Amino acid sequence: MDSEWTLVAVALLCGIFCWCFFQLKWSRQKENLERKLQTARKRREACLKQAEEAVGRFKAEHPGLDLSPIMDLPLPELSQQIRDGSLQSDVVLHAYIEKALEVNSKLNCGTAFLTESLKQLEDIETHKDGLLYGIPISIKENIDYKGYDSTCGVSGMVNSPAAQDSVVVKVLKRQGAIPFIKTNVPQALYNYECSNPIYGTTVNPHNLQKTCGGSTGGEAALIGGGGSILGLGSDIGGSLRIPAAFCGVCALKPTANRISLLGMNSCVKGMKSVLSSVGPMARDVNSLALCMRALLNKDMFTLDPTIPPLPFKQEVYESSERLRIGYYDNDGYMQPSPGMSRALQEARAFLEQAGHKLVPFKPPRVQTAIHEYFLKILLADGCAIINSHLKEGSINLCMQIGRPYGLPRFLKKMMSLVLNVTHPHIASVLDCTCGLSSVADLWKQQNVAENYIHEFIEEWEKLQLDVVICPILGPAIDFTYSGLTSGMSYAALYNLLNFPAGVVPITTVTAEDEDQLRHYKGTFGGYADKLFIKMLQDAVGLPLAVQCVSLPWQDELCLRLMRELETLCAKNQQSNTRQ
Ligand SMILES: *[C@@H]1O[C@H](CO)[C@@H](O)[C@H](O)[C@H]1NC(C)=O
Repeated sequence: MDSEWTLVAVALLCGIFCWCFFQLKWSRQKENLERKLQTARKRREACLKQAEEAVGRFKAEHPGLDLSPIMDLPLPELSQQIRDGSLQSDVVLHAYIEKALEVNSKLNCGTAFLTESLKQLEDIETHKDGLLYGIPISIKENIDYKGYDSTCGVSGMVNSPAAQDSVVVKVLKRQGAIPFIKTNVPQALYNYECSNPIYGTTVNPHNLQKTCGGSTGGEAALIGGGGSILGLGSDIGGSLRIPAAFCGVCALKPTANRISLLGMNSCVKGMKSVLSSVGPMARDVNSLALCMRALLNKDMFTLDPTIPPLPFKQEVYESSERLRIGYYDNDGYMQPSPGMSRALQEARAFLEQAGHKLVPFKPPRVQTAIHEYFLKILLADGCAIINSHLKEGSINLCMQIGRPYGLPRFLKKMMSLVLNVTHPHIASVLDCTCGLSSVADLWKQQNVAENYIHEFIEEWEKLQLDVVICPILGPAIDFTYSGLTSGMSYAALYNLLNFPAGVVPITTVTAEDEDQLRHYKGTFGGYADKLFIKMLQDAVGLPLAVQCVSLPWQDELCLRLMRELETLCAKNQQSNTRQ
């Protein structure tokens, strides 16, 4: 009897000991993480303070200097004035730093001020022939800049500064550009919002109650708020186009592999079938084209010989012959919001009036494409890698909705079977997150996806289209809704297809759009549509964009269509205000 009690006592003691041990270990881990995050935040505060001091010093040295007119100059004019000496590059840089600090204090869009930008001024004259001579630019947080973190918003990647500049930064620096700020991203980059446990939440410049979009969200907020004239981001499922549309700026997702990805950090690496793409974001299309021209040169092709050496085709960008333009409103997956539809109608009318031929185009089998090809291949690992990044530290609220993705496979399968009775759409998405079970399955899925791409191109060529216009998700949504996949089809389709695609702001939400949204029926019949209405509400005055698409490697043609749409839109607004 005694020995039994001793056994129980020993077991109890062991239990208590283990419990204490793990408690201690966990609290240590938590403390370590908290310390790491604190260091990262302090570092950000310190460099922002340096930026403030630099501006203060500069203004003291140049009393009476008015920096504000610089902010209104479009990129070509700014570039011209720096080149001909009527503006000094140090004045321009300090003007942009001042404005970016002001925008950042409102929107929380910056993650680091790059103090090296001030040093770059010392020998900037040696880059006088560069296409971006003296132009301050901003870069997304995951783009490597020597000495700074590229965390992708993930706690585990804090405190691992980049050993060297990414290829795009190197090339743009040689062209005379001055990267001066890094901008915020959502946790792990897989989100249409912009919030992470390290740097917090970035908000929309046009309405602080709305998200700026993601994952290139900090860029869109900063450029939309006037604090940058040109930025770089990346896009694997709408990450350049959706935030640009939400913040009323322009962006281009080029054909993947047109621009080097060397030195771009991401959470999921080695995944080859849905490709990420680096691209520019700016206030106008000419700036996007200038940035592409600056990137597509010998420097980039030498630094990264895996990139096809295709220079920018200026003659295609500047051409003005009539185009055959395909268009669609509802992609058969998600019914667009009333604002999205109206923006498309207006774009269509402008282009038709300008003499282009508009042809209805029906993209084939979009639901299958998005679920079976895009999601199943993107999440083929059953979300294992993404979840491994989210293990350390807290999961941000905007990722919470994606939490079921981290559940064990059999549980997700069971849940999707049950949900299929009442919510077939959500069940199908959940089923995609289960991943594929073998390499053979993955290859099979990739093969049907390849066939789909050619099926799509066949439809395109049957109608002899040059380009296509279609909606893009908008207006900007409320916080914590972005885990919903229902809004992504318009953007993600062109990642699956790897077609260049860009967005141009066309109009803003009217009271009538808002009114019509209340009667929105949707395609899923139920929960997902109700949430869609909720997240888009209360958005009068927010920007609405249209998406322009071309065939692979015809990035210049895509930009040309975007430029034309932008010009026609501006003309129309002018004549409206005159009336
Ligand atoms: C849901 O049910 C339909 C009809 O029975 C079936 O075709 C589909 O594969 C099911 N989806 C899932 C995710 O189980």
